[in-house]
Parts: sequence; structure tokens; C-alpha cells
Amino acid sequence: MMNKIGIIGCGRQAPKHINGYLSNGIKDIYLSDVDKDKAGELAKEYNLKYLPSDEIINSKEITAYSICTPPETHDLIIDNLIERGKSFLCEKPISLNLDKLHLNEKLINEKKLVAMGGYIYKFSPAHIHVKKLIENAGKDTIQKAYFRIASPGSNAPWQFSKKLGGGVINEMVVHIIDLVQWYFGDIKAIKYVSKKIYLEHRIKTLNEADELAEDYVHIKLVTRSNLEVEIEADLISSEFIQYAQFNSEKFECVLSIQPNIPLQLKYQDKSMDVCKFFEFQNLYIDQIKYFLQCVNKNKTQEISTMKESIAIARTINEIIDF
Ligand SMILES: NC(=O)c1ccc[n+]([C@@H]2O[C@H](COP(=O)([O-])OP(=O)(O)OC[C@H]3O[C@@H](n4cnc5c(N)ncnc54)[C@H](O)[C@@H]3O)[C@@H](O)[C@H]2O)c1
Repeated sequence: MMNKIGIIGCGRQAPKHINGYLSNGIKDIYLSDVDKDKAGELAKEYNLKYLPSDEIINSKEITAYSICTPPETHDLIIDNLIERGKSFLCEKPISLNLDKLHLNEKLINEKKLVAMGGYIYKFSPAHIHVKKLIENAGKDTIQKAYFRIASPGSNAPWQFSKKLGGGVINEMVVHIIDLVQWYFGDIKAIKYVSKKIYLEHRIKTLNEADELAEDYVHIKLVTRSNLEVEIEADLISSEFIQYAQFNSEKFECVLSIQPNIPLQLKYQDKSMDVCKFFEFQNLYIDQIKYFLQCVNKNKTQEISTMKESIAIARTINEIIDF
């Protein structure tokens, strides 16, 4: 079956999704954006068609969508898609509204739709490699985990706005919470949170009634398996950087989603030390391949489910309120 795809929101993320679909052999891709010119320009660049927002959602032929709009717009778009029985891959975080997430989970199950969160890091070859390594080494192998994520942020004003769902917790920490759950299971408690705003001048990019969201956060949490996890995240660094460090009795491991940072495994007896670079790979190709397999019922969705998004939202809300 050849899918017809709708992409809603034509900013920074949209081209990554377009390339993901094209690489999976999908050519019938329709774009839309509240800013018609943006949709038109992107459509021209990729030789695709664009539609007004209501037409893309009401189209009988389009059954699966990528939602690439700012976080605060996701709820309404998702309501409209679920009502029309459409499946979607929604950029992170799907929502932080727990009531809405629970209700939508129920509707999605009833209507047998695919609802996937855009938690792309789980498709990184280095993380997949280390997940298997830890699973094989046995439960409770890791004794301490540290995650670092940093970015300059984009130029879109919503990125730093509290009202519009920006800030370091919403933008960056969600990825890490997703990874923590994936590696180590449920989160039991948040132990410590320190939040800061360093780049106050960004207030100039916001509307008067708005507030800056935090651009730096340091978090300590503990999982149900009693693993202590530390997270440091910011939107003030000059370059994007992501890495994780895991310590066990036998080995120390550093890895990243970035292909220029090698996976390093150091054993105490040096017997199985590893320094391995993974070839660059557009992670959206595998993420979208998986999404399409689920939409076409070749697979039952087990990755980035609504249940996981609910657990992420619960933890993120706890961090915000700490
Ligand atoms: N997975 C990742 O690594 C990653 C990286 C960056 C951003 N994101 C996520 O992707 C999403 C989009 O981020 P971005 O950086 O592409 O944003 P962006 O600001 O660059 O683009 C968003 C686009 O959506 C359009 N838009 C706004 N409201 C709309 C609506 N109601 N209907 C249709 N179009 C609408 C805007 O006009 C804009 O063109 C966010 O949820 C963000 O958190 C994910």
C-alpha cells in the first residue's frame, strides 16, 4: 500500500520528516502551514504540493500525518486528526496535558490509530548498541547514569517562551526522560531540580504578556529500579551536544547520538575496550519506516507510544513544579 502523507508545520523539523518519507519510497507528501508562504516555499523546494490547513486534515486520501508545529499547537491538531480517524507521528513533546493524553490514548485504542511521539534518539545506532549491551549484562548493571544535552536553540521566538511551550525542560529534557525510561524503566521520584535563566536578553523576542522559560536545568532523579540519574540540559551553548555516561562495576561507557562522538567502553581489566564511530545516518529514515510499518499494520506499535508520552508528561510536569 502506498501511503499519502500530510505534514503539518513547515519549519525546521519538516525537511527532516520529508526526507524520511522520501527515503522510504513515499512520494505523495502534502504540506501545510498557517503561514501559507512557508508551505509554498518548502513545497517548491521538494517538488511537493501544499494545501490549506483544513484541507490537509479533511483529505480522504491522506491517512497518516507528521505534526511538526510548536508544542502548544499539538493538542488541537491531534483532536482534529483523531476525530477524523487519522494516524500521526507528532514531534515531541506530544502534550503535557495529562487529562488530554489519557483521553486521547483511549480514543486511539478504540479507533485503532497509530499515535507516535517523535522521540528520535531511540533510533540512534549508538544508543541501540548500548541498550543491548546493558540488557545482556543483566538487570542493575548500571550504578550511575549521567546525561548531557545542550543547544543554542533556534531563532523561533516560541523556543524560549513559557506560554508557547518552549524552554530547556520542554525542548531538551523530554528527550532525556524518554531515554531514561527506555534504558532503565519507570522513574520513581525527582530528587533535585535547579533551574536558571541565563540569557535574559531573549525577553525582547517575546510578546509582552509572555515570560521567558528556563534555559538551564540540573536534575537528579531515581528510577523504580533505584538507579540514580543526573541530567544537565541547556539552551545557551554555542553548539549542539548530547552524550551520556553510564558507570557500572565492570565498565564505564560514554556515547552520543552524534556520529562525531565515538562510543567508548572502558573495562577495568581493559579486556573488551571499545572506541567505535557509527556512520552518519538520518535517524528520521528509521523512525518513519517504523511509523509506516505500524500504520500499515505490519507491526504493533511498541516504540514511542501514548503510554510513554503520558509517563514523560508526568515527569516533566513534576520537574516544572519542583
Ligand atoms: N526531534 C528533535 O530533535 C526536534 C528538534 C527540534 C524541534 N523539535 C520539535 O518539533 C516541533 C517543531 O519545531 P520546529 O523547530 O520545526 O519549529 P519551527 O518554529 O521552526 O516551525 C514550526 C512551523 O509550524 C507552523 N505552525 C504553527 N502553528 C501551526 C498550526 N496550528 N498549524 C500549522 N502550522 C503551524 C509555523 O508557522 C512554523 O512554520 C516542536 O514540537 C519541537 O519541539 C524536535
